[in-house]
Amino acid sequence: MMRPLYPLSTRRGTTTASVPRVETSGPVERRDVTLDTMSAPPEIPDLVASTLDLARQRGFITSTRHETGRLLASLAASRTGTLAELGTGTGVGSAWLSSGAPKEARIVSAELDPALAEDVQELFADVHNVEIVAGDWTTLEQHAPFSLLFVDVREVMESIDVLADLLEPGGIAVLDDFVPSAFWPPIVDGQVDIVRERWLTDDRFAAVEMLIDPDASLIIATRR
Ligand SMILES: C[S@@+](CC[C@H](N)C(=O)[O-])C[C@H]1O[C@@H](n2cnc3c(N)ncnc32)[C@H](O)[C@@H]1O
Repeated sequence: MMRPLYPLSTRRGTTTASVPRVETSGPVERRDVTLDTMSAPPEIPDLVASTLDLARQRGFITSTRHETGRLLASLAASRTGTLAELGTGTGVGSAWLSSGAPKEARIVSAELDPALAEDVQELFADVHNVEIVAGDWTTLEQHAPFSLLFVDVREVMESIDVLADLLEPGGIAVLDDFVPSAFWPPIVDGQVDIVRERWLTDDRFAAVEMLIDPDASLIIATRR
């Protein structure tokens, strides 16, 4: 079930530039275009909308964007076994993963804040393949190996050795919330982002950074 776009859209940026006009035949006119958003259907899954409702009620402002969510759903559709999320928040990422994952796959997500975890557990009470765990992300180690690991806590990304061991061969890590940088090594606020540099160069992974929005990027790293 899908419902119309949640009013508090996480999409940022506006498309004020004119887009190329494509007629049915003949030359294509291309004007000056700054593409600052992507094309996507406006509907979102009901469960995602419910998690965003919870975010609004709680004043929680660091929820996963729709663009990242759609990517998670798309990757989850190719996965089997157990998928994991580190840092549940109000459950937006889990909801997107669950919207894409096959029915037989299992999703586990850890949230450090016990009260927040309890709210999300209630929200997912009827979603039988998703388990929200209250506690530190390391409590999920018992459920490894993972076919997909959504890492949504900045400090946790530093633990690349531990995270590499949690993934099965061919398993995909998605690391969210980087500030795009046009430099190599990546530089943010005048400093080299050594965590990002390490993920993009570690031999255990085939990794790529992807722009999600003009102001946000993520890393997809597949375990060899
Ligand atoms: C960026 S938010 C997560 C957003 C969420 N993944 C989503 O899809 O909307 C980070 C969350 O991680 C939680 N967190 C912080 N440190 C953690 C830890 N050590 N283990 C588990 N969760 C943690 C925070 O309480 C916060 O809710």
